[in-house]
Amino acid sequence: MSRPVTSARQQWRLGLTENASSMFSCVKDVVPASYCYVMKLDLGSLELGVATAATQIEGGDADTNWHRWATRPGAVKDGSTPARAADHWNRVDQDIALLVELGVKHYRMGLEWARIEPKEGVFDAEALGHYRSELTKLRQAGITPVVTLHHFNNPGWLEERGAWSRRDTVSAFLTYVRRVVQHLSDLVDEWITINEPNVYASQAYWFGIWPPAHKSVHEAMIVLSHLSQAHLRAYTLIHAIQPSAKVGAAHHLRVFDPANRTNPADLAGAKAMEYLFQTTALEAMSYGRFLPPLRRTSTTPPAVSASYGKPGRRYYDFMGINYYTRSWVTGFSEGTRPNSPVNDLGWEIYPTGLTRVLRKVAKRYPGPIYITENGTADAQDCFRARFLADHLSAIVDSGVPVARYYHWCFTDNWEWVEGEEPRFGLVQLDYESQTRQITESGRMYADMIAHRGLTDEAYACWVVPSAGGSTRFVG
Ligand code: FCB
Repeated sequence: MSRPVTSARQQWRLGLTENASSMFSCVKDVVPASYCYVMKLDLGSLELGVATAATQIEGGDADTNWHRWATRPGAVKDGSTPARAADHWNRVDQDIALLVELGVKHYRMGLEWARIEPKEGVFDAEALGHYRSELTKLRQAGITPVVTLHHFNNPGWLEERGAWSRRDTVSAFLTYVRRVVQHLSDLVDEWITINEPNVYASQAYWFGIWPPAHKSVHEAMIVLSHLSQAHLRAYTLIHAIQPSAKVGAAHHLRVFDPANRTNPADLAGAKAMEYLFQTTALEAMSYGRFLPPLRRTSTTPPAVSASYGKPGRRYYDFMGINYYTRSWVTGFSEGTRPNSPVNDLGWEIYPTGLTRVLRKVAKRYPGPIYITENGTADAQDCFRARFLADHLSAIVDSGVPVARYYHWCFTDNWEWVEGEEPRFGLVQLDYESQTRQITESGRMYADMIAHRGLTDEAYACWVVPSAGGSTRFVG
């Protein structure tokens, strides 16, 4: 894989690009410049972007399920709340300048429903105006947004009355979606209806660790049914308002491997988990097929299973995949593979899982496929460079055409009940002073965007010194 092109480093020397100098912050370690460079990893047509979510970066006092929850003692590990986060609401210009500095052309962002509709049926023109202005600035900066409508965040009024365990929340969501799309469709071509419905339903209603902290499998399945229905109906609604729109969901997918392949209980547990956690939501939201225990209602759009697997009749225009890790399954309990490389949150770093997920998804759900999230918690920024190289390589290795990759996260952010401690950002945040600093892995990412891949120079500069994580790139 080689492409004789002028390297960013040369461009910088020749004064051709303003930002290129920042790409080689560890220039002392770089192999001598040459007039061509060799690609360690060629990304071809895969476009790189970054992702965020409203509640995790905006800050401020929006009345959401999370703002309410986080004020309870012990609810969030470090006692932080989303009121601070990255103060993005007040720092849009600064953050767009950082996106530009990184060379980012694709940005996944979320909307805070509670800001837009602070009381049921009451829409806040100022909040919508704020998002309009942000989207306008992004586009002026040459950045294409994809906008998430629901990312674990409910307005307080909705949460209070039972949120997604109630069937009428689907219509409440559609009212909000209608207003947003009518208002912003000239600035947004792509919408993500719901982020990780399976994670939200299981964390909030099954395991009881996210608000409203219920512990009922039955209720979790009802919630998942309602979220799936909300996606199907929003898909149709958005197309009715904006026929050219591209609409999809962001599915959290992982690999479930039995701890012991010869133990029938582990095998059955892994299968059951994959079915409940992944297959049900994927089938319901892609084809309107509600497999048990998901349930349809009289207003659920029809299944399109007659044309199953064929492009054209389906409820998504792109398949969004969030990939982080694998689950190691013993009986019906799930854990982390012993002695595996892990990130700061103890999640196994398993790039091959992404290859496996992609191959599996591509068989049943025709693309385009977007990786709508992938990233890692690395406070020292000492293994993210390798993580990135390995996961992007895993995409290329899969042989599955993937159109986009949105790195989670653009900046450090408020990580739900984990609070401010986990550091997922390509841009590091000092929460006290709100100063931002591009990390070394962020510089590598910028370099990859500029070169559409990983050059030998960048590999030597950032990946080689990078710690642990995997054995994909040795040396
Ligand atoms: C995903 C969420 C995202 C963030 C990352 C680390 O499951 O969608 O908001 O929390 O995990």
